[in-house]
Amino acid sequence: MQDIIRQLEQKRELARLGGGQKRIDAQHRKGKLTARERIELLLDDDSFEEWDMYKEHRCTEFGMDAEHIPGDGVVTGYGTVNGRLVFVFSQDFTVFGGSLSETHAEKICKVMDHAMKVGAPVIGLNDSGGARIQEGVDSLGGYADVFQRNVLASGVIPQISLIMGPCAGGAVYSPAMTDFIFMVKDSSYMFVTGPEVVKTVTHEEVTAEELGGAVTHNTKSGVADLAFENDVEALMMTRRLIGFLPSSNREKPPAIPCADSADRIDLSLDTLVPENPNQPYDMKELIFKMVDDGDFFELQPDYAKNIIIGMARMEGSPVGIVANQPLVLAGCLDIKSSIKAARFVRFCDAFNIPVVTLVDVPGFMPGTSQEYGGIIKHGAKLLYAYAECTVPKVTLITRKAYGGAYDVMSSKHLRGDVNLAWPSAEIAVMGAKGAVEIIFREEKGDPEKLAQREAEYKARFANPFVAASRGFIDDVVMPHNTRKRICRSLAMLRDKQLDNPWRKHGNIPL
Ligand code: HXC
Repeated sequence: MQDIIRQLEQKRELARLGGGQKRIDAQHRKGKLTARERIELLLDDDSFEEWDMYKEHRCTEFGMDAEHIPGDGVVTGYGTVNGRLVFVFSQDFTVFGGSLSETHAEKICKVMDHAMKVGAPVIGLNDSGGARIQEGVDSLGGYADVFQRNVLASGVIPQISLIMGPCAGGAVYSPAMTDFIFMVKDSSYMFVTGPEVVKTVTHEEVTAEELGGAVTHNTKSGVADLAFENDVEALMMTRRLIGFLPSSNREKPPAIPCADSADRIDLSLDTLVPENPNQPYDMKELIFKMVDDGDFFELQPDYAKNIIIGMARMEGSPVGIVANQPLVLAGCLDIKSSIKAARFVRFCDAFNIPVVTLVDVPGFMPGTSQEYGGIIKHGAKLLYAYAECTVPKVTLITRKAYGGAYDVMSSKHLRGDVNLAWPSAEIAVMGAKGAVEIIFREEKGDPEKLAQREAEYKARFANPFVAASRGFIDDVVMPHNTRKRICRSLAMLRDKQLDNPWRKHGNIPL
């Protein structure tokens, strides 16, 4: 018995050492934590239960039968974040570069299967050289087994990917199918083909950082949701994100006690919208002043900045916020912003998170680059997402709601539950100048007459009352009362029930 216990201890020690002290030191020199250090920081103290610590690969090719490291390059199990259950896998770059073997994949699949059964999030800490080259098709099969589970888990349990090292080849597609991707600056990158292949095929010279670093994916491609300075910050912010999410689609998101009064008024909001309709203002100011304790967890803050998305709480309950940003491109909807917001609305809908939409949108972005890029199809994604969404939807129009963009941004017609407007709202087919130039084209040579027509159009449409007279706006509210009115709307909607007709799945314009 003693012998077995000693053997067990030895194996444990070996597994904890991963690829050995030299490789651990190398990992630290790169500013990276080890797989186990990361788990320790991510989870509550002493909550980690590890599985498959002794699992080894079965490969015999290329001398692999002589190289066995218990755990095979990934640490898996479950634990808690602020007392709530989560499953986790953490790839160990010190063991064969964290590369994915058949057995490494089996370990990941095991935690995913359990997470699905019990209804808890999966957090993947990715740091891997991709498919284990010595294993050939076995490792490719392993990747596909993980992909299949990512898809089946999508919309059932939250899936969060942290990219904390290389993530190349097929390895990027598992994170791509999860709900959120967080990257670490200067030490992580994601690409389908690396700089060498790019050079051979397209003759472009590009560094790994430029091709797929954290900044690239958070500003240019929109693949990632946030970028952090180091591993510790990424792990702490993951804990924070988990706090907003339900454990599965069977639950409501977790409410917490709230010290910020739902009735709090903010007089400064009465002057947020400038007199001049062409002058921008910062929509984030409204968000910060409206949500509990000014606490807004923004996602994709550096990508498609003309729309803002993120999580916050109202009276202690999580909500998803979608807001046009007049500071960037006047808040126009374009391809990138439509896709960004559509995916977020669908995430909220899948996980019972109410959506609060703040509208100041002059329309869809015109131009050949948008039309050639398929704004019709991509703009339709946002329309589709709002229209199929059945969670509570509360909408506030602060200023412009023009044209198709009025319809799209959670309007009454797309089953918006409560649609409010500030007195400064302008709900119309288009801005006054453009409108009179079309309907009074024959008066184009008479600037005085045209100016008069413009003033008439403004007086008729540059207000919320026409829409309110139709019931498309439920009430016109004073800006300083915004928090109170939205909190009340959300409280009224807490037990909302609405189902879409049965179907296998809709056909969202992809
Ligand atoms: C086996 C691997 C490995 C891999 C790295 N290693 N990648 N072993 N399979 N895929 C091993 C190295 O041999 C080395 O072992 C250790 O991990 C660390 O690697 P280094 O190269 O020394 O580290 P570094 O300089 O930091 O470079 C990291 C790297 C590089 C950029 C990831 O290792 C690399 O390019 N690896 C290959 C990437 C790749 O082509 N993967 C296959 C992608 S195709 P020692 O013993 O020296 O410490 C793919 C298909 C999936 O994934 C398709 C699914 C649909």
